[in-house]
Amino acid sequence: MGARKIIIDTDPGQDDAVALLLAFASPEELEVLAVTTVAGNVPLELTTRNALTVCELAGRSDVPVHAGCDGPMTGTLKTAEAVHGQTGLDGVELPPPSTAPAPGHAVDILIETLRREPAGTVTLCTLGALTNVATAFARAPDIVERVAEIVVMGGAYFEVGNWSPAAEFNILVDPEAAQIVFRAGRPLTILPLDVTHKALITPDRLAAFGRIDSNVGRAVHGWLGFYERFDMAKYGWEGGPLHDPCVIAYLLKPDLFSGRFINVEVETQSELTRGMTVADWWNVTDRHANATFIGDVDADGFYALLTDRLARL
Ligand code: BDR
Ligand code: CA
Repeated sequence: MGARKIIIDTDPGQDDAVALLLAFASPEELEVLAVTTVAGNVPLELTTRNALTVCELAGRSDVPVHAGCDGPMTGTLKTAEAVHGQTGLDGVELPPPSTAPAPGHAVDILIETLRREPAGTVTLCTLGALTNVATAFARAPDIVERVAEIVVMGGAYFEVGNWSPAAEFNILVDPEAAQIVFRAGRPLTILPLDVTHKALITPDRLAAFGRIDSNVGRAVHGWLGFYERFDMAKYGWEGGPLHDPCVIAYLLKPDLFSGRFINVEVETQSELTRGMTVADWWNVTDRHANATFIGDVDADGFYALLTDRLARL
């Protein structure tokens, strides 16, 4: 079997950056057709610039980076400079990207790519708000059934919220978009905080990245040291959670993860709980299952995979 074709939709972000690197380090399993950017951790201009920087760091400037939506379908953009710094990729000085975004809006590229590639062969990996994907689905409903699978970092059940008391950041940024994608009817896997909060960047794991003697190793070490400080202070844990690489690791080694096929809906109405992922973990409703909601990860296995693969770049 050849490499699985993926599009990575992202708002880099240090953890997004590490997810991109993990995908680039795994060409035998994953063919990255395009990187599409969305506003989220920082505004769109910066997430796009950061995606270009990461592609260049990995020696993969051949992968097109397409800028997408600069804000959610409804309401105003929420950003997370408190976590990621003013650039979104604080923690290490890298040269400005020498490449430019590829022509074509991310939404158009999603539509064109899904129409061009054989149906059922392209997996969408989302590491940010779901605005680009939902906008593409709304504009071109014919592409929905052509999607092989959607793998999302977002939401939470047992861990509830990290950006409001009830909501995880990626879903909170654009709840309407998340609802469209969750209800699209395609195979959907969700990596929520319940799993990413078990994948902590402990001092030993951070040190292992630092021992990778390359520009990639130094960048990952610098980024994650900066990025985790916010969550370590917030939660009082020995390391910050590494969210987005879980999506790519799930594609590479699904056996590291376990979860349940359940119903997951997004709250869009309530002021108090807007953006909450209402996951029927205990199967207490008749609502049909629409998502594999991951609950657990072999964290040592995940970090071993990540460290091993990043050392290849
Ligand atoms: C998610 O929010 C962003 O800050 C991270 O990049 C990740 O995608 C975690 O809630
Ligand atoms: Ca992200």
